[in-house]
Amino acid sequence: MPSAQSPSQSPVPQPVELFTPAFHQDPHGALAALRQTAPAVPVVTPNGLRTWLISGYEQARELLADPRLSKDMRVGRDLIPRNFADPEKQRAFLAESGDHSQFPQVLSVHMLDSDPPDHTRLRRLVGRAFTARRVEALQPRIIEFTDELLDGIAGSERVDLMEALAFPVPFTVICWLLGVPPDDRSEFRRWSNLLVSGAGTPEVRDASVSMIAYLRALIESKRTEPADDILSDLVQVSDEGDQLSDDELISMAFLLLVAGHETTVNLIGNGTLALLQHPAAREQLATDPALWPAAVEEFLRYDGPVTNATWRFTTEPVEVGSVLIPEGEFVTISLGAAGRDPARYSDPDRLDITRSHSASVAFGHGIHHCLGAPLARLEGQIVISRLFARFPALRLAVDSTELRWRSSLMMRGLEELPVLTGRSA
Ligand code: HEM
Repeated sequence: MPSAQSPSQSPVPQPVELFTPAFHQDPHGALAALRQTAPAVPVVTPNGLRTWLISGYEQARELLADPRLSKDMRVGRDLIPRNFADPEKQRAFLAESGDHSQFPQVLSVHMLDSDPPDHTRLRRLVGRAFTARRVEALQPRIIEFTDELLDGIAGSERVDLMEALAFPVPFTVICWLLGVPPDDRSEFRRWSNLLVSGAGTPEVRDASVSMIAYLRALIESKRTEPADDILSDLVQVSDEGDQLSDDELISMAFLLLVAGHETTVNLIGNGTLALLQHPAAREQLATDPALWPAAVEEFLRYDGPVTNATWRFTTEPVEVGSVLIPEGEFVTISLGAAGRDPARYSDPDRLDITRSHSASVAFGHGIHHCLGAPLARLEGQIVISRLFARFPALRLAVDSTELRWRSSLMMRGLEELPVLTGRSA
């Protein structure tokens, strides 16, 4: 039970269990109910970790930019044991996930797990390589690759779009950025799938060791033979004599893989599903393709990839409205709940592709605002628009209630998206 008290000394309620299988089937209903309870609600994850849920738009935006909340996971990891509600579950969690102190630190010396001044330095150096020009240059390749995948789908009546389209595009784009050669990609994908599962099992640790060794060798090869990719630029980049160390390069490559891959997969999956469920929006886009950029913003708000949570911990007590969160506790900010806050968006549960989208938090806010947002938007627009243009009769192959959602603490995404292609245009 959290030790927090509201300023009026009213007792803090028992933590609500969140991120259960029922939650993943309908997170927006559960999040809306919690938003009405309090600006910060104590919740517990199914494996027993206590945290505070933030579900209002204003509070989310403020806390995302609040320096009293840290993302330094080298420190945050030590807070895990004391934030367990139940000692039994903590023992089970540690037994199941292994000794986290053994998990390679090199994978979390990246900007998303850092605070200033480390964050400032890393983001500045990486920003020099991750330029708008680089992202724009990818456009024709993404179009060509998407069309090849759509050609592959055209022969089948029933297809799982997650496997056939939503996964391959972002994953291949990351491989292009990092310069991972085609022959290495299936092994690279196997390791990355294991690593993003977040478990601390021996299999995952083996994958992390293999991935680190692979990235170390790849970096060395970019140093001796630079190619036209971001990793080669990152190896060369320097800022007044300052350079990324090999460990920082490995961690950055890993961050690009995780942050840039899982998220965009779910933008494509959730966005496609939203359109399949909203024929009027689909017709609007068919008659007015200029609406696509706004439609992608709306997909990000309506059912975005980071619906469930992005995590931080308090370095001092933080007051959120009437609730005081003590120091050393985890805070989960639900970007999906923020995007459905009726105080910010009128009729928030309605998909409206003509809505205006200033100051959206779907890509975060403040110093950690997503570095890859322009790339993600580009991929989302190309893939979803070309899919619907190519298959005008595309429809869900199952009832919406039969769709299975992944049980992730952070991401909202489908296990499978079975569709019937109809006739290709
Ligand atoms: C950070 C969302 C795609 C690279 C973030 C954050 C969010 C986010 C919410 C901030 C997290 C926080 O403050 O805790 C998304 C979504 C995407 C997407 C919804 C797809 C629809 C990408 C892509 C890349 C990328 C394609 C790169 C290839 C990054 C990086 C950061 C980041 C490097 C860390 C920035 C920092 O800490 O300063 N993203 N992202 N993301 N994202 Fe993305």
